[in-house]
Amino acid sequence: MRRQKISIIGVGKVGENVAYLSAVLGLGDMCLFGRHKGGLEPAKAKAIDLKQMAVLMGRDIHIEGVSYDVEGFRALEDSSVVVITAGIPRRGSMSREELLSENIKILRKFTDAIREYAPHSVVIVVSNPVDILTYTTIQLTGFDHRKVVGMAGVLDSARFKTYVRRTVDISYSDIRALVLGTHGDFMVPVMSNSFIGNKPLEEVLSAKEIDEVIEETRLGGGSIVKLMGTSAYYAPAASVVLMLEAIINDRGRVLPCSAYLAGEVAKHYEAEDICIGVPVVLGKEGIRDYELINLSGYEKREFLRSVNSIRKFTQLAKSMI
Ligand code: 2OP
Repeated sequence: MRRQKISIIGVGKVGENVAYLSAVLGLGDMCLFGRHKGGLEPAKAKAIDLKQMAVLMGRDIHIEGVSYDVEGFRALEDSSVVVITAGIPRRGSMSREELLSENIKILRKFTDAIREYAPHSVVIVVSNPVDILTYTTIQLTGFDHRKVVGMAGVLDSARFKTYVRRTVDISYSDIRALVLGTHGDFMVPVMSNSFIGNKPLEEVLSAKEIDEVIEETRLGGGSIVKLMGTSAYYAPAASVVLMLEAIINDRGRVLPCSAYLAGEVAKHYEAEDICIGVPVVLGKEGIRDYELINLSGYEKREFLRSVNSIRKFTQLAKSMI
């Protein structure tokens, strides 16, 4: 059976760890896209190294590397999934508007190429600000919005779990944690859909413990940046691979992802024409379905704060497209 092809644009720490984990799992053939750097070709080098690692793992997968600024993007052809990790991180005094403008310029190259060479692929957006860039990718590719998802809630929910785990001595496998909304300060840990064993989380943790867990989850990404001056990559990469595996193997997994809200879904979550973290069913076609969960009154208010926190930047992105 022909293996599916995964293309990864960006071979920085997140991109290379997505490739590494996907190779260990033998998810599919891969093509890594990177830029020439001072005569060096990191995408090619990492592809060769990963292929040799895959051999040791007994994985018969094909992995190639492309320097897209020289060779272009034709190698995107036949991709089932394209993962976009490339973009610039926020530096120094750079405003979020400037970051957005820079990353939209970079993104446009990729979306033009995806539209031309991989028009039937599913796209996973990782670059930040992920909700806005997921929205922008839909606009710039012209793809059906169900073909484009952003990696956010899977990562935030995993962080939420790790902080809950510090308070209770229960296996991670038996902690269910759900974080929706934007991937940022206004993310929404959904207590009414989070369980420790078979007990609602709110029956196990005190109000103070819950507040601490929520605060630590919101600061999850920033705390790593503070410690090492750059953002995380192992957990973000593993979060992408969870989504990739659901798509490649057509699993129908229910995962929180940044997704476009329209129609009945927009009505249910009281927000439309934005991308934001909601639970979706992921399969070979991308978003197979949306899960319309009921939020508590408090969670609804938090979710709407989350919506408002990205609406301004979504409008700004629309003006830049
Ligand atoms: C994070 O939250 C990089 O957005 C990623 O760590």
